[in-house]
Amino acid sequence: MCGIVAAVAARNIVPVLIEGLTKLEYRGYDSAGLALLNPTLTRLRSVGRVGELAVQAEGQVAHHGIAHTRWATHGVPSERNAHPHVSGGLAVVHNGIIENYAELKQELIAGGYAFSSDTDTEVIAHLIQHTLKSTPGLFEAVRLVAARLVGAYAIAVVQEWSDAIVVARHGAPLLLGLGQGENGGNYAASDASALLQVTRRMIYLEDGDVAELTRAAIRIVDAGGTALNVPGDRPVHESTLSADDVEMGDYQHYMQKEIFEQPQALAATLEMIGGAQTLSPNLFGVAAPEMLRGARSVLILACGTSYHAGLVARYWIEQLAGIACSVEIASEYRYRVSVPNPEQLVVAISQSGETADTLASVKHAKALGMGRTLAICNVPESAIVRECALRFLTRAGPEIGVASTKAFTTQLAALFLLAVTLAKQAGRLTPEQEGAHLKALRHLPVAVQKVLALEPEIRAWATQFADKQHALFLGRGHHYPIALEGALKLKEISYIHAEGYPAGELKHGPLALVDKDMPVISVAPNDALLEKLKSNLKEVAARGGELYVFADADSAVDQEAGVHVLRLPEHYGLLSPVLHVVPLQLLSYHTALVKGTDVDKPRNLAKSVTVE
Ligand code: G6P
Repeated sequence: MCGIVAAVAARNIVPVLIEGLTKLEYRGYDSAGLALLNPTLTRLRSVGRVGELAVQAEGQVAHHGIAHTRWATHGVPSERNAHPHVSGGLAVVHNGIIENYAELKQELIAGGYAFSSDTDTEVIAHLIQHTLKSTPGLFEAVRLVAARLVGAYAIAVVQEWSDAIVVARHGAPLLLGLGQGENGGNYAASDASALLQVTRRMIYLEDGDVAELTRAAIRIVDAGGTALNVPGDRPVHESTLSADDVEMGDYQHYMQKEIFEQPQALAATLEMIGGAQTLSPNLFGVAAPEMLRGARSVLILACGTSYHAGLVARYWIEQLAGIACSVEIASEYRYRVSVPNPEQLVVAISQSGETADTLASVKHAKALGMGRTLAICNVPESAIVRECALRFLTRAGPEIGVASTKAFTTQLAALFLLAVTLAKQAGRLTPEQEGAHLKALRHLPVAVQKVLALEPEIRAWATQFADKQHALFLGRGHHYPIALEGALKLKEISYIHAEGYPAGELKHGPLALVDKDMPVISVAPNDALLEKLKSNLKEVAARGGELYVFADADSAVDQEAGVHVLRLPEHYGLLSPVLHVVPLQLLSYHTALVKGTDVDKPRNLAKSVTVE
């Protein structure tokens, strides 16, 4: 949700800011802007993509500046609402939401400040300007203002004639980059990918930290006002991300690259178990043996695609471990009155580790006395990882396409490991059964690779979808969440209205929608529910519905008029959802291509949702 880059260095930092914003565009792309200090302020803003800002910025030279790519919250996407926002000679970029902005705005208007945007951010700019009247120094003024802001934010502030950048964070990600080599300098950004171009040495700020960056130095003060030792109190992390991880290479879109990277992403995630024949709970952290052993039930909290991973895991955990498992959408759980259970294991699933609702739901569970918390996450050092007692890091690598793909399948691998670990602790697995599950997991990268080979057939199907207004996705058992995920992928990137349904529910409502214009996509693996599913498909065919069936090599589903069948190479038992989601990802990708939508940056969405 919005990306921030800041730089102060001996080199020209304009290309650094533009390159950084390009890397952060996945966080929002309604508008982009930057403020350069030379030493007076130049502000450039554009509605739309960073590419347009880059054209405006051609020929500019500066050694000190801040930049922003926006996902609109307060105020429509427009130039007047684009960041940076200025007050006198200072400029501010901001990620997050200031909840008390209305009362602060009234106070500022009464004090004679005029607003030129509809954003909450402009309040911060005027408030700092106002505070500077009675407080010497930008750093101190930002500290005082930060104490008055309610909500989640990361900000970067610059002021004419000052040689510093001041940044602050509370509830939204922000890290510092320490320049290397002859170009040196200091930097700040919403995530590491924006700064890999200049450094690998990063410091993750904590909530409440305020930092000042100059060419030669940084200083950090924590929420309590204590000046910190750097790097002592805030260690320097050497990022292991490679610049190639965030490049598109030969692919047309990040989403395409990420779909095809799934075999490697799964293999990297499963590297942690090596060739082991038996799992150690330590896989989830040093405290895991005790915490997992004492867990009497499981509560999974997540949003979006990660929530669908949780729904699959419920089937695995209950079937393998015999432990009750519930899965809740984080934004619902955090605000409802629930019955806390201190013995429950709380599992937060999040690709980014920054999703505001998921983070808040973990905090809520902890406040209710539920301390057994486990993060399944793709980003080390993210807020959710740091909030949880236990962690399992998936190794999908950076996921840039807004529609999640490789993060999902690696989350499934991690959740299957959790189910097997819990089953083992519950004494429900023989060593042979455990070995067989691990063998199946290790074979997943190869199995997924074979499914990817179906792309040409799926591409052909996609041409039949592109002119549809609606689509229905059906699945049963642990493939029902895969139907939900298939529907989500299609709506996210092709804007076709799609719904996922458990096939048994068809006759309780959605069957009324079925006619020749409503394609019905069915996930039909060769499992115990196949015969039931086939009856459901007959109900569709009898109403003139066009069926597209993703079956297994040995599923007895026949191609006939109105029934198209594509077979996955092998039936994969409990892990079959990991395979069956792949053709659905490809189907939405190719449908979006035919429709000509923006695959990686679908309208109105953002990759990392750090606001409620
Ligand atoms: C956004 C993204 C989705 C993602 C969801 C949860 O909506 O567009 O792809 O599934 O957030 O994100 P998380 O990072 O918590 O998995």
